[in-house]
Order: sequence, then C-alpha cells, then structure tokens
Amino acid sequence: LPEPARIAEFTLRVLTQRHDLDGETVLITAGPTREPLDPVRFISNRSSGKMGYALAEAASERGARVLLVSGPVQLDPPAGVELMRVQTAREMRDAVMERLAESSIIIKTAAVADYHVANVPKQKVKKTAMRLSLELDPTPDILAEVGAEIERRATGQLLIGFAAETENVVAEAKRKLQAKKCDMVVANDVSADGTGFESDENEVVLAMRTGEVAPLGRAAKRVLADQILDHAMQLRLALHKSR
Ligand code: CTP
Repeated sequence: LPEPARIAEFTLRVLTQRHDLDGETVLITAGPTREPLDPVRFISNRSSGKMGYALAEAASERGARVLLVSGPVQLDPPAGVELMRVQTAREMRDAVMERLAESSIIIKTAAVADYHVANVPKQKVKKTAMRLSLELDPTPDILAEVGAEIERRATGQLLIGFAAETENVVAEAKRKLQAKKCDMVVANDVSADGTGFESDENEVVLAMRTGEVAPLGRAAKRVLADQILDHAMQLRLALHKSR
C-alpha cells in the first residue's frame, strides 16, 4: 500500500483535475537521440527527457491520449501513456510520421542530434596515435518536416517546438517559429544556472504564431508543463477564431 500522503495527493489530484484535453491525442517527443559512430560509440545531445515526460504526464492527467516517442532516458513513463522507444533521429522521425495523422497536438521537446555518420562501420574503430576526423551528414529535421506537412494538408493540428539557446533566446525562438512553421516555440536559455538539462526546474519563454511572447517564470518542469498546455489551448482557440 502506498504511503497515506501519496494516497491523499493522488485522490486530491483526481478530484480536482481538469479534463480540458478530453478527446485530444497529444504526440510528444522527448529525450536525446543517439547516432552510432561504430558498434560501441555514439554521438548524442545533453537531455534528461524530464520536460517531455512532464508534458506527457500533464496531458494524460488532463484527459488526453498521449503518444510518447522517447530517446534513451532514465525515466519511467507516466501511467496511461503509450511509449515508443527510439534511438536515432531517423527512428524518431519514422515513429513521428507514422503517428502524425491521428494526433491533434504535436509537441517536440526532443533534443534531436543534428548530425550522424552515414555509413556506420560494422567493426569497432581502433585507436591510433593519429588525429581522427569524423565526416557527418545532417539528420532529418523532424519538426520542419512535420510543420511543412501540416501546412501542405491544412489539417489545423497544433505544432509546438522547443528551442535550446545560449544567446538571443527570443529572437532565435521567433526565427525557428517561422522556419519550422510552428504555432508555438518554447525557448529556454540552457546556459542559465539551475535550469535546463538535468534540472527539475526550468524558465522558458513562449513565442507564438499570433506574435505574442509570454515569459513563464522559473518553476518545476511539471508546473511549466501545465502552463504550456494552458497557453497551447488558448492559442488554438485564437488561431481557429482568426481562420
Ligand atoms: N528538431 C527536430 N529535428 C532535428 C533537430 C531539431 O525535430 N533534426 C526539433 C527539436 O525537437 C526542437 C526544435 O527542432 O523542437 C529546435 O531544436 P534546436 O536543437 O533548438 O534547433 P536546431 O534546428 O537544431 O537549430 P540549432 O541547433 O542551430 O539551434
């Protein structure tokens, strides 16, 4: 039996929970991807997956059906969420494109590796005393592909991207919003102390298609997840009204 405090917390949450995402299917990508260099090595990005898993939990608790496409992370999936595990950017792209049509909201928190080795050697690369150069090809930009697909088909699906920046956070968020045809970009300054990657807290700015920019104060990722979903629902209403 769980501790009484946990039972109380769970009961309270069930009784007070909003169900404003009933009927929605939310597709979320989370964590890093791993691009193999040989059978024992890979390149990857810093990412714990915590923000994506927090969004998955929040959306599920608010009544959505949640499809979570996750790179390798040390987290348990939230209850009731459909988890698809992937390793590479190509695998993540294929999983997203396969589930795209059934999704009403797509949120891309994943830290996708931007480059990979096109022809991965079958055997381990042996160490020598010489300098080693890697030749890398770009991976598919999943968010840009999804943005273009939604626009081409005029499906009205809501697309939310993330941007990890070390400078010019808002300007970069706005640039990615346009370039990848998103409805919202959630940007964070990953050089700030105590927020970002491994942290349980974050501080983000939302840049929206409507031109609105909303800074969300520093908070736990689980709290920010609900605030991001609140803004997403308001944004969709505003976009539908303006169509
Ligand atoms: N993204 C993606 N596929 C990629 C690279 C990024 O879908 N191959 C998505 C991420 O999931 C995120 C958004 O694009 O939602 C922005 O990712 P980010 O790494 O900040 O931007 P990049 O486009 O990679 O640009 P840069 O690294 O130059 O800032």
